[in-house]
Amino acid sequence: MLNFEYYNPARILFGKGEERQAGRQAARYSAKKRILLHYGSGSIKRNGVYDRVVASLKEEDIFFVELPGVVPNPRYSLAQKGIQLCRENDLDFILAVGGGSVIDSAKCIALGTHYQGDVWDYYLDNGKPVEHDVLGVGCVLTIPAAGSESSTGSVITREEGLLKRSYDGEVLIPKFSVLNPETTFTLPDYQTACGASDILAHLMERYFTQVPHVDVTDRLLEADMKTILYNAPVALREPDNYDVRAEIMWAGTIAHNNLLNTGRVGDWGSHNIEHELSGIYDIAHGAGLSIVFPAWMKYVYKDNIDKFVQFAVRVFDVQLPFEDKERIVWEGIRRLEAWYQSMGLPIRLSDANIPGDRLEEMAKKSVLHCEHVGHFKKLYAEDVHEILKLAL
Ligand code: NZQ
Ligand code: ZN
Repeated sequence: MLNFEYYNPARILFGKGEERQAGRQAARYSAKKRILLHYGSGSIKRNGVYDRVVASLKEEDIFFVELPGVVPNPRYSLAQKGIQLCRENDLDFILAVGGGSVIDSAKCIALGTHYQGDVWDYYLDNGKPVEHDVLGVGCVLTIPAAGSESSTGSVITREEGLLKRSYDGEVLIPKFSVLNPETTFTLPDYQTACGASDILAHLMERYFTQVPHVDVTDRLLEADMKTILYNAPVALREPDNYDVRAEIMWAGTIAHNNLLNTGRVGDWGSHNIEHELSGIYDIAHGAGLSIVFPAWMKYVYKDNIDKFVQFAVRVFDVQLPFEDKERIVWEGIRRLEAWYQSMGLPIRLSDANIPGDRLEEMAKKSVLHCEHVGHFKKLYAEDVHEILKLAL
């Protein structure tokens, strides 16, 4: 196990009706009681979450300016508009109501409001130190998926060049996040499936490490993966099952609040490759991951076959003679693909109607601002190209 420092101050309010606390929480962190209310394309108005959140803001006499219109794979241009609104209206806090896209857009606005330059500088230089005030962000999460409700990350797509890039920093961890599983009852099946796929990917990215002796986090990751593998299919059959939605929602936050990263180095190659897919073809992140992850596994497993054997045996209960490692690994990958398909997710580029004519371009773009992606196995442009070919 490696040395580590763990810090995650996101306050979590979990359970039925908790969105009614959004106003009280926002009042704690907004000294001026002047906030930006940021949301997506209307799901929160249809399912009543908007009304309950607005009522809670009014109860606390909080002045708010609304900025709706965040789309999946959130765009830089809308975040720029948010930065302008915060400056013009002297707002000091952002309440994001929705999924990862809304939260990431809110984080970008928070980072950009008091920055003298172009906030895109941060997305081009992940790791750039923050030397200015960053607004606080609070969330009411309505889809378990990205984990942005307690993560350091923000992922934004810039229309010009279709570049999807992320910035990670402690300053972006939300001050509080409300997680009410009831708000997820209205999710379309496809979004439930994409969310589950993203959560599973966050766990697998961390699981596949070359760092030895990480038993505690290995076992916690396996438990979280099994929770998703079991509960997500039930959520498709029983969308209003509170207990199942609650398991998925909490599993999703734990998967990405970095606790399960402690003492190990995660891979993240599949995420970087997927960002090129959703950047160009605008597919859901979770659907891109169900295409990329099996291909990545097939390409890299020989670099530490025992880790893949452990995954197949412990997570997918593969029972074959132990000396037959290759068969065990391939059976594990086959079961993962079968699970994705049972959830209605694509496992090949062709399943998502993505043609094979821009693979090389995506491979080159994935390493445009870094030398390589991935840590389990370092991947250069030619490796990424091979992985994308395996996904055809
Ligand atoms: O826009 P609305 O109307 O809200 O509809 C959304 C959207 O169409 C809908 N939805 C959300 N909650 C709903 C609902 N529909 C009905 N009922 C509800 N309760 O679902 C659609 C998808 O929403 P989105 O926010 O895009 O989903 P998700 O949470 O998966 O976020 C995806 C984004 O997060 C990034 C991804 O790359 C992608 O851009 N990620 C962010 C990370 C982070 N910040 O740490 C890490 C992740 O790996 C990921 O990269
Ligand atoms: Zn993800």
